[in-house]
Amino acid sequence: MAKLLSPFLKSSVKADQEESEGSISILELTKEVLVRGIDKVPNNLLVPEECRPKRIPWGEIPVVDLSKKHSDRGQICLKMGDAARNWGAFQVINHAISPSTLRKMESEGKDFFSSPIQKKMQVRKGVTNRAYYTGNNSEEKWHSLHWAESYVQLWNKWTEMDDTVEKQTSVLYPQGNDEYRLLVAEFMEGIRSTTELIMELLAEYLGLESNFFSKFCFPNGTSVTRWNYYPLCPVADMTLGARQHTDPNFITLLYQDGVGGLQVEKNGEWYGVRPIKEALVINIGDGFHIISNGYFKTVLHQVVVNEHSHRLSMVCAIYLENHADLSAPEQLVSERVPRLYQKIYSYEYWNLIFAGREKSSPMDASVLNGLNVLKNLRIF
Ligand SMILES: [Fe+2]
Repeated sequence: MAKLLSPFLKSSVKADQEESEGSISILELTKEVLVRGIDKVPNNLLVPEECRPKRIPWGEIPVVDLSKKHSDRGQICLKMGDAARNWGAFQVINHAISPSTLRKMESEGKDFFSSPIQKKMQVRKGVTNRAYYTGNNSEEKWHSLHWAESYVQLWNKWTEMDDTVEKQTSVLYPQGNDEYRLLVAEFMEGIRSTTELIMELLAEYLGLESNFFSKFCFPNGTSVTRWNYYPLCPVADMTLGARQHTDPNFITLLYQDGVGGLQVEKNGEWYGVRPIKEALVINIGDGFHIISNGYFKTVLHQVVVNEHSHRLSMVCAIYLENHADLSAPEQLVSERVPRLYQKIYSYEYWNLIFAGREKSSPMDASVLNGLNVLKNLRIF
């Protein structure tokens, strides 16, 4: 049987085909615009009038303190589940990644993006395919440009983490760097541990076995991390760091510095996600929405940029194993709450996502391919 490509490997192959030598660096563009004026901003970075960002207040997105995961598990489970249900997003504090690991990772990220463009281009996509720099954060979105640069790392199964960490860190440090390797290993272990706990708590909230979701992820699921760097933007009210989208993967963990820029939608209104020191923002993705029979909301979100500050975020998108059954379990289906989505396996779902992207028009500025797939899978 042919080996199935995991979602991100497919994504990488597709993106490689579309990478052009003329790919712009948003940071270099920012410098140019600051010197020569805003008419140097390419049109494809300007979003249509109706999509332009508005100044909005911080939202009261729930904050879940994981420090009492043993002594107060019931309350934590309830708060997190309600947040996943009503918002599709929440923040967690006292998670498994230490403050010093976060600070060092943030510092590594900022160092990388502030390095000369020649150095960044040495690790651009095509030169290296499992960890790479992308100058405009658009390769995986295909038809829209974002005011952001990214450094992307693709991770194998969790059982192969040590080996992958070794390979990934050698991309930035070909001569080796033990300190950085250990830092990345600690970061990824914190991601793993926090993700597993969140999956368990959300399974318990729904009355399922604790490992109902996590068994599809550990040890055979995969992940993608991105450092996203948003240079200060002279046309911040006319562009976006990331256009409206839901995450097609299962769940996403995000660390942001103190600047802020992530916005989430709830009941037709947009809310800013207030940066909380050392917190992780958790987004429920389309995959989790499907398997939970719609109990958990997939959160529509976007990223705004600003005229005054650069911003860095570190994102980890979590994917289930290819043969995970995404069909909602019978416990979540009843006469009162019928099955919302067709029964489907993870690899079939990703095939639909990629087929949708193939078909979308180059003129289509939408990045909502995932939502189109959801619509097509909907039973009623
Ligand atoms: Fe996202």
